[in-house]
Amino acid sequence: MMPHLFVLASCLFVLAAPSVLGDSPVSATQNRKEDALVKSFRNSFAIGAAIPGAELNRAERRLLFANFNTVTPENCMKPVSLQPAEGRFCFTEADALVNMAHANGLTVNAHTLLWHNQCPDWFFTDGGRPAGRELVLQRMRAHIAAVGGHFAGKVQSWDVVNEAIDNKDGYLRKSKWLTSIGEDFIAEAFIVAHKADPKAELYYNDYSIERRPKRDKVLRLIHDLKQRGAPIHGIGIQGHWKLDHIPFQAIEDAILAFHAEGMNIAITELDIDVGKRKTDGADVGRLERASADLYANGLPDDVQQRLADQYAKLFALFLKHQDKITRVTFWGLHDGRSWLNGWPFKRTNHPLLWDRALQAKPALSAVLALTREQTEQKIAQ
Ligand code: GLA
Repeated sequence: MMPHLFVLASCLFVLAAPSVLGDSPVSATQNRKEDALVKSFRNSFAIGAAIPGAELNRAERRLLFANFNTVTPENCMKPVSLQPAEGRFCFTEADALVNMAHANGLTVNAHTLLWHNQCPDWFFTDGGRPAGRELVLQRMRAHIAAVGGHFAGKVQSWDVVNEAIDNKDGYLRKSKWLTSIGEDFIAEAFIVAHKADPKAELYYNDYSIERRPKRDKVLRLIHDLKQRGAPIHGIGIQGHWKLDHIPFQAIEDAILAFHAEGMNIAITELDIDVGKRKTDGADVGRLERASADLYANGLPDDVQQRLADQYAKLFALFLKHQDKITRVTFWGLHDGRSWLNGWPFKRTNHPLLWDRALQAKPALSAVLALTREQTEQKIAQ
């Protein structure tokens, strides 16, 4: 393969989202209901969806533009997509996403400058051997400066570092970033990101950080960064939760604890898994052996209702802390676009507010009812 073809192929490599729908008509009633989501939360926080890129079909675009005011690129801004080979940048897909968002009045929350996954190995090798600290540091800085600079002024925020906290006893995850550079790689990343785009809000983003001991490690990280003079503005709580195991109290405690450190809070990757899975959190590397596809033919009414109730409880909590929360972003636009159809094993999942036919679910009505109640209470006062 010619080198440029190779790069093109690498540029197109993404963890593909499962089903992509054909154009289907959107009914007027559906549109009226949809319009309400972004309007309902306009005075509280931004409402976002992760999308693969600009290649959405017409019905999906209408759903997106009517209901959300911000997007996050699911994969196309990760290092493997933007710089698959050293010095070869592929901005086409990400630029198209940014242009589509701006042309339709949506902001972009960019994801992610540094992660241990979807990150090419060239960052860490030197002539077939592991590269030393200075070389990896220099490559990391060059990547962040180029990418941050390219999108400067065009994105609202960056998830600067993703999932760097250890899930077990250690403080930081033993990623190649940590083992090549050392603990200061996170501070360095924030410093360079800020230089590249001084107006962007800079977030540390991770899963299960609402719970101890990860929550305490995030607090330690915030202190470390402050001590090193690194500019961090917020914490992204991913929020990949399971239907019957949403840690409401821990979520509230984490919002309060991070906010007390001066952090903005964003819920960055919200979805509620209705299926059974063993693992908590969202470690993309932890796959499970496939078991029955319980909801291949749709969600039974009782589970649908439980999903609606859990979403309503979550959004009630977010509204309670709306002064601390900048944004709530769903990880996917509708059920057919969710990564949970493929992780931790292949099955039919139903984790979002719209189903795969783009019909609004009871969970959407439950969430909308909350702000209606708030408005009615205010009027009554
Ligand atoms: C993590 C990452 C995201 C995405 C999801 C799965 O949460 O932060 O970029 O890869 O896993 O889609």
